[in-house]
Amino acid sequence: MTRPYVFVTRKLPDDIVAPIKDIAEVAMWPYDDIQVPRDVLMNEAKKADALLTMVSDVVDEEILEAGTSLKVVANMGVGFDNIDVSAATKRGIAVCNTPDVLTDTTADLTFALLLATARRVVEAAQWLKEGKWKSWSPLLLAGADVHHKTIGIVGMGKIGQAVAKRATGFDMNILYHNRSRNIEAEQKLGATYCSFEELLKAADFVVCLTPLTKETRHMFNSEAFRKMKRSAIFINAARGAVVDEQALYEALVSGEIAAAGLDVFEHEPIAASHPLLALTNVVALPHIGSATKETRVKMMELCCRNIIAVLKGKRPETLVNE
Ligand code: DGY
Repeated sequence: MTRPYVFVTRKLPDDIVAPIKDIAEVAMWPYDDIQVPRDVLMNEAKKADALLTMVSDVVDEEILEAGTSLKVVANMGVGFDNIDVSAATKRGIAVCNTPDVLTDTTADLTFALLLATARRVVEAAQWLKEGKWKSWSPLLLAGADVHHKTIGIVGMGKIGQAVAKRATGFDMNILYHNRSRNIEAEQKLGATYCSFEELLKAADFVVCLTPLTKETRHMFNSEAFRKMKRSAIFINAARGAVVDEQALYEALVSGEIAAAGLDVFEHEPIAASHPLLALTNVVALPHIGSATKETRVKMMELCCRNIIAVLKGKRPETLVNE
C-alpha cells in the first residue's frame, strides 16, 4: 500500500515533522521566509493526503477541489479565515487550527503593543538613537497612562480573556463586546458586557481580538472611529481586514483618535511605503502575536499531531469543522 503524502507549506524543523514521517511521505516548501506560490500549492494539493499550512496561505475552494485525496488541512494558527471551511466540510476534509497553545503568548504581545503605543516606547527609543536627547524635560515624549483606564475588548474569546486578566493587574476597568455574553469572564475578571457602540464611546483602549468573518470584516470603519474618544488608542492583534485601514489612517491623521498599535494588516506583508507606517502615532509589528520559540514549536507540534490523527482515522485534537 502506498504511504500517504503530506505537504508542508513552509520549512519547519526536521525533528518536529519527524513523527509524521513514521506514517507518511513528507515534502516541504524549502523556505521559511518565502510564501509558497499558489501554483506550487495547487500542484501539491492535487497529490496530498494532508496539508500543513500557514495563516498566510489561501486555501480556497479551487485548491480544495484540486485535492481529490485531501483528508486534512492543519493550519498553523488559531485563526482559519484563510481556509474555506465550508468548502472543506462539503468534501469531507478536516480543517484543524492551533488554539490554546498560543493564548497567553498572544495576550502578552497584545498587552506589550498596548503599553508600547500608550507610552510611545518605539518612538522614544528611535529618538534616543538618533541623538535627539538634549535634556530631561517636563513633557518630553509624554504618553498616556494605562493603569486605572478603561480597556474595551472586542472579541472575548480565550485571548480576549487572557488580555483582560493582564488588564486587572493594571487596575483597569474592563469592558467587552462579543457575539454572546461571557459570564465566566464577567465573574472571574470583573468584565462588563456592553454594545459595540457603548464600548467605542467609553474605552480609552479599544482592543480588537475578534476573528475575521463576513460579519466582522471592516467593523472598525470611519463610523466606529468617529465614536471613539479623541484620546482613544486602538490596538489590533486579530486580523487586518477587521479594520478599514483607510478609515483608520484618516482617524489618526485628523486626530479623531490618538494612536494605534497594529500587529496585523489587511494585506500582509504591508508595504514599507504604506501611509500608516509613516505616522509617528502608529506602532506596527509584522504579525508576531504568537511568535515565541516555545509557542511556535507547540503550534507546529499540534499541527503534526492533528495530521497524524486524521491519517490514522482518528479524530484530531482541534477540529474546526464540526
Ligand atoms: C493565529 O494564530 O491566528 C495568529 O494570527 C498567527 O500567529
